[in-house]
Amino acid sequence: MSDSRKCLIYICSILCFTGAASQEFQLEPQNLFVLKDSDAQFRVTIQGPWEVMTWDVGDVQVLTLPINSPSIPATGRFEASFCVTDDTSCVQFTIINTTRNDTGRVACTVQNRPGQKVAQLHVQESGTVSILGGDTTVPQDEQVEFQCVTSAWFPTPTITWNQNGEAVNSSLYNTTSVADGDFFNATSVLKFQAVRNTTVQCLATIPALTNPVSSSVFMVVDATVPVPPDWTVLIAVVVSFGGCALLVLLIIAIVYCCKRRKQKQTNYQDEMRRVRTQSVVSVSGQRQGRVNNAYTPDSQTSVAPSEVSDFDQEKVYSVITLPDILHSHYVENSDGGPYNTVDETGFRKHRHVTIV
Ligand SMILES: *[C@@H]1O[C@H](CO)[C@@H](O)[C@H](O)[C@H]1NC(C)=O
Ligand SMILES: *[C@@H]1O[C@H](CO)[C@@H](O)[C@H](O)[C@H]1NC(C)=O
Ligand SMILES: *[C@@H]1O[C@H](CO)[C@@H](O)[C@H](O)[C@H]1NC(C)=O
Ligand SMILES: *[C@@H]1O[C@H](CO)[C@@H](O)[C@H](O)[C@H]1NC(C)=O
Repeated sequence: MSDSRKCLIYICSILCFTGAASQEFQLEPQNLFVLKDSDAQFRVTIQGPWEVMTWDVGDVQVLTLPINSPSIPATGRFEASFCVTDDTSCVQFTIINTTRNDTGRVACTVQNRPGQKVAQLHVQESGTVSILGGDTTVPQDEQVEFQCVTSAWFPTPTITWNQNGEAVNSSLYNTTSVADGDFFNATSVLKFQAVRNTTVQCLATIPALTNPVSSSVFMVVDATVPVPPDWTVLIAVVVSFGGCALLVLLIIAIVYCCKRRKQKQTNYQDEMRRVRTQSVVSVSGQRQGRVNNAYTPDSQTSVAPSEVSDFDQEKVYSVITLPDILHSHYVENSDGGPYNTVDETGFRKHRHVTIV
């Protein structure tokens, strides 16, 4: 008796367990990413018999599906149906033409089954991608920079770069993103050294996209194009050299000025000394000028320089010469002899002496 009772309890527990298991149902996927205007589809798998299933989007119950109706045709934007005809264990629920407002909670409840299964819907938007500048030719070994601009994305996209189809190490690029109304615009800057011809590709993606949106340009490396000079270095060199030259010129100018000032001082002293000696000389009597030692008399001149200097101060000779005619005024006779002489060749020589 006790054995049969034990057996009954055992069988009962198994039945209870099975019943509990049969009440389980699953909602998939837990997170769904879709593009705006596309459809979002969830599935619920449910074991055993059930009667009514309801679907909520956000806080609104949007659809009720009885088990005896294989599908609920779209009423508005929501529809539900058996995944496979006449198989009540799988139901698919579709939100048609999703909008951003559909983002959030999607829940399924089965009547007489405990709990509610909840999933998340993410409605996203893909925008544009473009590498600025287009195809380009660059000198060999030049540091190049590519800018990829994405606009009108929601949420902000993940941007990556490819070179010749190979992913670029993320240490070579930086991406910044800014909100623009309900959208995001992002800019990514890729920098690297141009070594060989390269196809550069910028890829932007969000979870709702199966394939990234991309833009490509072709970079031709031209070894014949000279690398433009680095102006900053050139300017730095010129400025520093110019500065040095200016400094040297300044030093030279200062040294020159100092020297000149010194010279002037000594000159002044010399001048003072000379003036002193001169005044001494004039005191001793040579006030009336000095003898011109450079004077040399003509061969037939009868007056020696010493005689001229000996003349009285009142003696004035005035000799006026006219062609062929000689007018001579001789004021106050003296034994100095005639001052008009005719030489052997017949030329007359006229001497004009003024004694002050
Ligand atoms: C989706 O909705 C938009 C407006 O929200 C509408 O313009 C468009 O025609 C709809 N597309 C479909 C396939 O229903
Ligand atoms: C990317 O570059 C960094 C530093 O240059 C290096 O440490 C890292 O290993 C690189 N990653 C890959 C995947 O090559
Ligand atoms: C990215 O930004 C960081 C910090 O602003 C900077 O140190 C680094 O050089 C940048 N890398 C590139 C490839 O621009
Ligand atoms: C790079 O591309 C240019 C243009 O397509 C081509 O003329 C040149 O030969 C290429 N250089 C190399 C090294 O492949």
